[in-house]
Amino acid sequence: MPTIKVRLNGPYLVDVGEDVKLIDWNGKEYAIASRPFALCRCGGSTNKPFCDRTHSKIGFAAAEAAVPDSGDKPAGQ
Ligand code: FES
Repeated sequence: MPTIKVRLNGPYLVDVGEDVKLIDWNGKEYAIASRPFALCRCGGSTNKPFCDRTHSKIGFAAAEAAVPDSGDKPAGQ
């Protein structure tokens, strides 16, 4: 099943197989070096839209969870 996982205080981990394209606002396709791939959620990556792990250096702390008040527990647990 295709999955996009919101990582705790990190990127969106996109695991959707080979059939997905990542395109920009002009419809141009990004080259995806490996799969699954991670998309930056913190805004700090120098390789946007991909995550370059800058989130861990800047102390990115996301507040949202699928279930409010679930703390650092992943959705569904
Ligand atoms: S989420 Fe990893 S660099 Fe932004």
